Amino acid sequence: MKPLVEMKNICLRFGGNQALDNVSVNLYPGEVVGLLGHNGAGKSTLIKVLSGAYRADSGQIFIEGRAVEINNPQDAQRLGIETIYQNLALADNLDAVANIFLGREKRRGFALDEESMELEARQVLMRLRVQIPSLRLPVAQMSGGQRQTVAIGRAIQFKARILIMDEPTAALGPEETRKVGELIRALKAEGVGIFLISHDLHDVFDLADRITVMKNGRVVGTVYAHEVSHDDVLGMIIGGVMPKNARPAEVPRTP
Ligand SMILES: Nc1ncnc2c1ncn2[C@@H]1O[C@H](COP(=O)(O)OP(=O)(O)O)[C@@H](O)[C@H]1O
Ligand SMILES: [Mg+2]
Repeated sequence: MKPLVEMKNICLRFGGNQALDNVSVNLYPGEVVGLLGHNGAGKSTLIKVLSGAYRADSGQIFIEGRAVEINNPQDAQRLGIETIYQNLALADNLDAVANIFLGREKRRGFALDEESMELEARQVLMRLRVQIPSLRLPVAQMSGGQRQTVAIGRAIQFKARILIMDEPTAALGPEETRKVGELIRALKAEGVGIFLISHDLHDVFDLADRITVMKNGRVVGTVYAHEVSHDDVLGMIIGGVMPKNARPAEVPRTP
């Protein structure tokens, strides 16, 4: 099986600050890779390189084995890479349909094709197995979990094979967090690969197959979530050391 994403030896400097120092990570179809590390470790910068928000100073990116140039967010989207940022970037005054198609509206002649956008929005939300009471209500009036669903719907509507989620449950209650977990499992089952950034170790252990820890712009290591303890991972985050006896997890674990 080929990796969906391979980022190799990525370096990026902001002035005198080496935000990414020779970072290599990968992601395979149908798996969740958790990205962990203290504030400032470089997690967001790394995914911004993948999503086309930043350009690396050096390093390579391969998508399904093919070397690619990602110079802007449009390049990333064309490659099936979608990002959900912590703030969700939804337009509060617009409804779910409009948000899902924001900036990529369907048209029939000069007019918006509301009917087919609504139908497709409904289908994508069904795929996520989520009920949204009204697709035509401004998203400002929705719960945090429903808003998160709209953001995910927006990402996968455009055939994302690679989904990046930066702190997807930070603003959610327990029930909604559980729902997002279900969404993530549904996407995995469809073969989508997910980079999951979260502060919440519990979430990451619950959802991730592998965990990559970063510290000071470098990768400490990658481990199999099911083969390490919370303390092991804290040791990686805080101490910057691989747990004793942990196998390096450069490829998915075979069942
Ligand atoms: N746009 C930017 N300009 C300058 N420095 C930045 C910028 N974005 C991030 N940094 C710096 O890069 C480092 C990594 O930050 P970041 O990727 O946001 O870490 P994390 O997401 O792991 O908290 C930090 O030292 C941060 O201050
Ligand atoms: Mg961040």
